Amino acid sequence: MKCRKCREAAVIEIRRHNAAFCRDCFLEHCNRQVAKAIKEHDMCLEREHILVAISGGKDSLALWAILTDLGYATSGLYIDLGIGEYSERSHKFAVDFANTRNLELKIVDLTEDAGFDVSGGARSSHRPPCSVCGISKRHWFNKVASEGGFDAIATGHNLDDESATLLGNLLHWQVEYVARQGAVLPATNDGFVRKIKPLIRLGERETAAYCVLSGIDYIVDECPMAAGNTGLAYKAALSVLEDFSPGTRQMFLGGFLSHGRERFFGADEEVRLVSCRVCASPTPAADDAECAYCRLKPKSRHSGFSDG
Ligand code: AMP
Ligand code: FES
Ligand code: ZN
Repeated sequence: MKCRKCREAAVIEIRRHNAAFCRDCFLEHCNRQVAKAIKEHDMCLEREHILVAISGGKDSLALWAILTDLGYATSGLYIDLGIGEYSERSHKFAVDFANTRNLELKIVDLTEDAGFDVSGGARSSHRPPCSVCGISKRHWFNKVASEGGFDAIATGHNLDDESATLLGNLLHWQVEYVARQGAVLPATNDGFVRKIKPLIRLGERETAAYCVLSGIDYIVDECPMAAGNTGLAYKAALSVLEDFSPGTRQMFLGGFLSHGRERFFGADEEVRLVSCRVCASPTPAADDAECAYCRLKPKSRHSGFSDG
C-alpha cells in the first residue's frame, strides 16, 4: 500500500476516502479535515480564542493538537469528575499534554465544587451517573468559557459519536433533539457560549491513529460508567454498516447536517431562559430559576474553579 499523496509506504488505510497515507501525509490529512469542517460549518474565525474541553482521551487531545497546529489560540479545560482511578489517570494525561506543549489547562474539581462525585450525585439525585456527569460538564464548559471571555467551546465529538447520537435520536423519534443536533450551536444572548465540534469529519480510529503517530499519550480505557450504554450499541450497528459500505457514517451525518436537519427546525420549542438564582448560568424559566447543576448541589458550597 502506497501513500496517496507522496507514494511512500502507507501506514493507514481509510476506506471511506479510498486512500492510504504515510505518517506525515496522514497527520496533514487530519489537519485538513478539521480545517474543512470548521470552514464548512462556520465554526470559528482565525483570531478567536477557543476553550477546548479535554477528557484525557484520544479525541480531545488530538483536537487540541490539531487546533494548535492550525494556529488557533486555545486553552484547555479538564473537569475532574471524581470517577476513581479513571479520573486520576485521565487527569494526568491532560496535564502531561498541556505541560509538554506549554499550553494553558484550566482544571475544575467537581467534588470540591459540588460536594459530591458523579456516583454520589447519581445516588442522591436518583439520576443515572451519565446524566449527572453531562449536566456538570455542560455547566462548567459554559461557565469557564463565558467568565474567561472565550469565543467558543470545542469538544472532541467525532464522526462516530455524532452519527451514533443521530441514529439514537431518530430511532426514538426525539425530533426536538434532532433539531438541536448540530456541528455548531450558536451563542445566545442569554449567556450560552458557542459550542463547536471540529472533529465531525474524523472517525475514532483516525483520532486514535493521530495520537499514536504523533506521540500523544491518552487514556485508552472507556469511562467505567459507560458500560452497557445504548450509545455503544448504536456505534456497533453503524460499524457493521460502515464495514459493508465505507462512507455510510459520513453520508448519514454529513447529509443530515447539510440538508436533513433543517427539516426538523421548529420541532424544538423555544424556551425562555433566565439567570439561575444561585450561579447566574442561563436556565429555563420554567425550572423555578435554578439550573439543573445547582439543583444537584447541596447548598452553601464554594467554587472549586482554579487555573492549573
Ligand atoms: P463524552 O461525552 O465522554 O463522549 O465526551 C465528549 C467530549 O466532551 C470529549 O471529547 C471532550 O471534549 C469533552 N469531555 C468529556 N469529558 C470531559 C472532562 N472530564 N473534562 C473536560 N471535557 C470533557
Ligand atoms: Fe461521564 Fe463517564 S464520563 S459518566
Ligand atoms: Zn445554577
